[in-house]
Amino acid sequence: MVLHSNSDAVSTTGRCIKAGDLVIVYERFDSMKHVYVNPGESYGNRYGNFKLKDWVGKPFGSRVESSGRGQTGWVYLLAPTPELWTTVLRHRTQILYVADISLICTFLELKPGCIVLESGTGSGSLTHSLARAIAPTGHVHTFEFHLPRAQAAEKEFKEHGMGDIITVKQRNIEELGFPEELHGRADGLFLDLPGPWHAVASAAQCLRPDGVFCSFSPCIEQVQRTCAALEEQGFFAVRSMECLLRHYEVRQEKLISVDDVEGLHCQQVSAKRKRQEEFQSRKRQALSPATSPAPAAMHSNIITTSTTPASPQGAAALQASLAAEGSDAMIMEASLTAAEPLNERAAGEETATHQEGLYMRQKEMPMGPLQRIWYPLCFKQGSKVVSPKQKLIQALERN
Ligand SMILES: C[S@@+](CC[C@H](N)C(=O)[O-])C[C@H]1O[C@@H](n2cnc3c(N)ncnc32)[C@H](O)[C@@H]1O
Repeated sequence: MVLHSNSDAVSTTGRCIKAGDLVIVYERFDSMKHVYVNPGESYGNRYGNFKLKDWVGKPFGSRVESSGRGQTGWVYLLAPTPELWTTVLRHRTQILYVADISLICTFLELKPGCIVLESGTGSGSLTHSLARAIAPTGHVHTFEFHLPRAQAAEKEFKEHGMGDIITVKQRNIEELGFPEELHGRADGLFLDLPGPWHAVASAAQCLRPDGVFCSFSPCIEQVQRTCAALEEQGFFAVRSMECLLRHYEVRQEKLISVDDVEGLHCQQVSAKRKRQEEFQSRKRQALSPATSPAPAAMHSNIITTSTTPASPQGAAALQASLAAEGSDAMIMEASLTAAEPLNERAAGEETATHQEGLYMRQKEMPMGPLQRIWYPLCFKQGSKVVSPKQKLIQALERN
């Protein structure tokens, strides 16, 4: 699997297929399969028959012809990547697709060296992308309560050269939480479980200060319960979003101009009918869209992300950095509800329900890398308590 820039697997240019390799077989733009290259076997599809021994030694990316008599079919042999694997893997469960995966990896702020916790593992679709993001020095600890699924995933990760950076364990995370040895170690934590709220308290124990929680749920009731659990555990900057993917086909079309139309009407009568026919035909072409949206063949659900409560260490570090800047601001720890709601709620929102209130506060939150530090705190300057938002504005003005 293509993992990281100095991995053996990364350079697909010139890398040749070996016996036992995983290859993504590209048949058409809408049809790909995966094949483990066993030289004793062959691969057949509607385009012909392919002897796998003929693929050994060919560079990844090669086009190969079918070998049967009179057959003219071909396929491309692509090097596997997490994105391609998501497209071709055998589904043992519902899986996550690239649109959601990309959003999740971005919001989890994954980079090489990160420690990520995941549950459930399912078919391992997301796990491949998590592993690629944290490779070569990070680690993914993934938990699945269904033993055969956990075993199948573990086998696949090993076959794909990810055995060293992914650990799979069978465990009921909703009931037992994450193991104690992972407490305080995770940079990011992801849940794709039926009842993610059951695991939020354990997530809070596992995440480092500034760690990010992310959960994927198919229905709004699950999201609401998870958000409530997050708030209870002191998480902040909670955001829920849905990610829709739309494919566009881009092609060239002829467009007609007003001059064309006027010109056509000014022609001699004898040529008029012919030109009118031509005009009608060009008009028909021009009316068909140059880009035609096609629905994406995948589901998308609601993703909830949040950051962990700021730790006393985080507050102390912030205090030190403010002091270094010559600021006399004092940091007081305060809960989000105590410090923020009146600042952030517009008139009338007080009557909103708990869930709506939570959502409104999210919408009001300033964006940017500082938010996770500023939000759970309030600042005291002299005798005047200023809100984090005002403080942020002052800090930005100073700079
Ligand atoms: C929808 S699948 C996850 C799919 C995965 N994200 C992927 O991209 O392939 C959910 C998985 O969670 C597992 N699961 C459900 N409840 C669990 C629990 N309490 N603890 C651990 N795993 C659980 C299920 O067995 C299932 O395999």
